[in-house]
Amino acid sequence: MKHTQVIGVGHYVPENELTNDDLAKFIDTSDEWIRERTGIERRRWFDPEKDTVANMATRAAKIAIERAGIATKEIDFIVFATITPDYFFPGSGVLMQRELGLQGIGALDLRNACSGFIYGLSVADNFIKAGMYKTILVIGAEIQSSALDKTTAGRNTNVIFADGAGAMLVQASDDPGHRVLSTHLHADGDYAEELYVRDPGSSRKVRLSPELIAGDSFKVHMNGNFVFKHAVARFEEVIYEALEANNKTPADIDLLIPHQANLRISQFVQKRLKFTDEKVFNNIMYLGNTTAASIPIACSEAWEQGRIKKGSLVCLAAFGSGFTWASALIRW
Ligand code: UT7
Repeated sequence: MKHTQVIGVGHYVPENELTNDDLAKFIDTSDEWIRERTGIERRRWFDPEKDTVANMATRAAKIAIERAGIATKEIDFIVFATITPDYFFPGSGVLMQRELGLQGIGALDLRNACSGFIYGLSVADNFIKAGMYKTILVIGAEIQSSALDKTTAGRNTNVIFADGAGAMLVQASDDPGHRVLSTHLHADGDYAEELYVRDPGSSRKVRLSPELIAGDSFKVHMNGNFVFKHAVARFEEVIYEALEANNKTPADIDLLIPHQANLRISQFVQKRLKFTDEKVFNNIMYLGNTTAASIPIACSEAWEQGRIKKGSLVCLAAFGSGFTWASALIRW
């Protein structure tokens, strides 16, 4: 059986940066509150003139392709994780495929929110192990800022969520020393409405109406405190699940890359695992929470900074809307 090896990572974030003070100009909030509760200092929000979910993903993918040293046409499948596609349908996977000139290959869109990238990696890993594809491009890309309520009523979400794209290239290999060791996926639909965007939903007489637009059901709703409590528990559980599946202990992990939900969540998990700062990667301070994009962006930055090296044992973990949660253990 083939193994799945990570051969390249890349990311792209919009140029447009907003500090907490910028937000405080139009929302009743403060730099102090946002830093204290979330650890976020600034974030990137897209420029509608320049950025789309698909073109940010394309830019991230091109970097991953260059770093992997492969030809674009070697890619034989795409997995695209986003909950903020450019169109209601089709998904952004086909739009990026077109931009990369890869017309004809399969493109699968996933909408598992913050866990979407790990779900996507799991699909890619299993397609490779089954011998179906050789080189798969896995994307996490989001434009969250256009779905946010940018008034004080939305301040528990608009200070957190942000935009960006990350890419990971994985390839079939015979080398068991560098591979995705395992992935672990979970969901619990009992909590679907604790973090969601209700509309434009299809189970309505009309999908869009003036009444709907006048309301707030198309904006992000989050029961923040409730989500926070579940997140810290599920993160820890799913990390241990990955370790136990591979007969490893927390001490074996070289770098933990948690989904960048809230710096306080990452710090809580870090404390529970008794990890030093060097063993946990955080970039939420300057990029905010980019949902499905946060893990591949973090992988790319960690690789650039030399915090992931060949042979590193890297643990990815995520929690988010659904609820969904997931982990992956990778021997890089
Ligand atoms: O990535 C997907 C998963 N998402 C997460 O994991 C996010 C998890 N949740 C969180 O990160 C936190 O719950 C938040 C940062 C969203 C909110 O922090 P919190 O400590 O749970 O605040 P809260 O929602 O319980 O609100 C506490 C107070 C409220 O005021 P009152 O009712 O006590 O007077 C809020 O209105 O803080 C107020 N508040 C704010 N104040 C200033 C909420 N957001 C803000 C804000 N600025 N941005």
